[in-house]
Amino acid sequence: MTALLQARNLSCHFRLRRETLFGRPPLLHAVDGVDLTIHAGEALGLVGESGCGKSTLARLLARLLDPTGGQLFLHGAEISRESVSRFARSDRRRAIQMVFQDPTESLNPLLTVFQSIADPGGRLLGPLSRTALRQRVEEAAAAVNLPLEFLDRYPHQLSGGQKARVGIARALVVEPQLLVLDEPTSALDVSVQATVLQLLDRLRRDRGIALLFVSHDLNVVRLLCQRIAVMYLGEIVETGAAADIYRAPAHPYTRALLSAIPSLRPRGAGRIRLDGEPQSPVNPCATRCRFAGRCFMEQPLCTQVAPELRALPGGRQVRCHYAG
Ligand SMILES: Nc1ncnc2c1ncn2[C@@H]1O[C@H](COP(=O)(O)OP(=O)(O)OP(=O)(O)O)[C@@H](O)[C@H]1O
Ligand SMILES: [Mg+2]
Repeated sequence: MTALLQARNLSCHFRLRRETLFGRPPLLHAVDGVDLTIHAGEALGLVGESGCGKSTLARLLARLLDPTGGQLFLHGAEISRESVSRFARSDRRRAIQMVFQDPTESLNPLLTVFQSIADPGGRLLGPLSRTALRQRVEEAAAAVNLPLEFLDRYPHQLSGGQKARVGIARALVVEPQLLVLDEPTSALDVSVQATVLQLLDRLRRDRGIALLFVSHDLNVVRLLCQRIAVMYLGEIVETGAAADIYRAPAHPYTRALLSAIPSLRPRGAGRIRLDGEPQSPVNPCATRCRFAGRCFMEQPLCTQVAPELRALPGGRQVRCHYAG
């Protein structure tokens, strides 16, 4: 498999308004030193608890937010040097498209479904005849099983699942190589969620579109993704083949995360409860594991040396001194 998108040491630190008189300004490390590769045609799940930086990382990878450090490569060519606004006008913008969490908020209520789906195409595909644009829009609608009579409707006339399909069709119209989906089904009820997931899986299989699927629902990720990346406080703490990680999670945080779901709990294992307070993402200590203070495997080294992401057999990577 070839690398479609590669992040190298990618960071996004938000400067908080509150200024200190002494010392460093308070920086919230939303995403911190992320190395991550997305291969052509794969579905990569990005999981982790609320506030760990998933949406920020998704927006960085989709080139909708400028990183404060690190690099991003599309097919080996760096795309992080130009600003987000310049990138938005480049022809590489087509390759990576984002689908947002809440279909109600991400669709303009004043545009018909046709206009919503046509909008990115009109901006990114260059001059197109009306007929050619209509054909593109109808193809995208067909790809998400949206009947053509819906094209003249407005968002308020659609169900949640139909709006989610419009959001995906809108991204598909420019024929992207990667869809970045930030909790695309979390606003939908379970049965509709399942059909949207099947649709995404079919798009990946039939068209080879890679998916970065952000979710806090590990059951959903398991159905859709071949690989997963687990985030904790701005850092990737474990990556690997989904099947391997679900069978035998290595990082203590991943173990706790999976143990919270009875159907995913390894046989005979109990629920791992995390005690203690999470560390702050503001100016985090550079010589300490971010998970220290909550970790059931903690040793003195964990508060002296921050662990690096290291390779385990089978292509797995884990950020822990003691895992594996
Ligand atoms: N524009 C911003 N300015 C300052 N801090 C921000 C900004 N955007 C996000 N953050 C902070 O960055 C951290 C990561 O936020 P992010 O939205 O990426 O988390 P998340 O993993 O997507 O959470 P959730 O599961 O709740 O969606 C949080 O601490 C958040 O408060
Ligand atoms: Mg989020």
